[in-house]
Amino acid sequence: MANENVNIVSPCENKEQAGDSESTVETNKNSEESTETQSLSKRQRKKLLRQKKWEEERELRKQKRKDRKQQRRLQRQNNQDEERTEIDRNPRKRLRKVVTLSSVRLVVDCSFDSLMHLKDVRKLHKQIQRCYATNRRAPFPVQFIVTSLGGQLKQSMDEKDKGWVNWKDISFKTEHYSEVVAKEDLVYLTSDSPNVLTELDQNKAYVIGGLVDHNHHKGITFEKAKELGIAHAQLPLSSFVKMNSRKVLAVNHVFEIILAYLEKGNWQDAFFTVLPQRKGAVALDQDGAQDQEEEEEQESDFDSDEQAPPQMGKNGEDTSS
Ligand SMILES: C[S@@+](CC[C@H](N)C(=O)[O-])C[C@H]1O[C@@H](n2cnc3c(N)ncnc32)[C@H](O)[C@@H]1O
Repeated sequence: MANENVNIVSPCENKEQAGDSESTVETNKNSEESTETQSLSKRQRKKLLRQKKWEEERELRKQKRKDRKQQRRLQRQNNQDEERTEIDRNPRKRLRKVVTLSSVRLVVDCSFDSLMHLKDVRKLHKQIQRCYATNRRAPFPVQFIVTSLGGQLKQSMDEKDKGWVNWKDISFKTEHYSEVVAKEDLVYLTSDSPNVLTELDQNKAYVIGGLVDHNHHKGITFEKAKELGIAHAQLPLSSFVKMNSRKVLAVNHVFEIILAYLEKGNWQDAFFTVLPQRKGAVALDQDGAQDQEEEEEQESDFDSDEQAPPQMGKNGEDTSS
């Protein structure tokens, strides 16, 4: 058959084709291939065609692979850019990625509402906002519970910060803390307790009195804790820092000290990270006991208006500037 094909293209019968030897060779080759193809079974021919197609499309596939790779790279870059913009907009996001939820419960007891003037209720409101914000960005956040919510405080929250209803990782209760937490789990934190807290028990709920009273209701939380027959303790301030004012701290400072202790694992670092400079805290020598009576006589209570925690050196010097 192949020879027959060649014979058809003879110099006498077709002068144009006769002069084109390349075309003749090509024709020969094609003819051979087609002869070969014809001698193959149908299945083999199909296979051969598939192989041929595969070969022909090799470059196309290579190009497609390259395009897909390029697309993925662009997508990754876009995602990273978006993430970076998000972090630039809200740097706290980065911190929230490595968060270990602590099982410690911190309760702010707001049952003293009627004992406060509106001005002080507003201060308490700000202190609770600050506790919430600090807990949200803490590496070891606590289970935050606000109990006995109502009265002037709730009114202030509804008026000044409607968004509180959407706050996350916090539980608002209208009930008293003794109806929310089992009695044996409760420890009331109060500076008037003779007991000193040495470490935190992960199974306990520590209660902070939601009160801004400029010491007008001295000892009120201690009395309440005794009445209810629940455990109580003061923070170990005297063992670690020498203060030039009394040891009565604002709600958010107590809250932040607990968070800092969970993060740092020691009280001294926790106190020095949180305590405001105007409390005049100075680190004690490891064996140094401070003059407690002298401290008791000094000015009490602290309103906590600072927006950022002060930066203090371990010797009390201001390092914030
Ligand atoms: C401004 S104080 C209120 C003082 C109030 N006169 C009282 O009797 O508790 C706010 C709350 O922070 C907590 N607190 C303040 N200083 C503390 C300390 N040194 N040790 C433990 N808790 C403290 C207490 O729960 C307290 O009720």
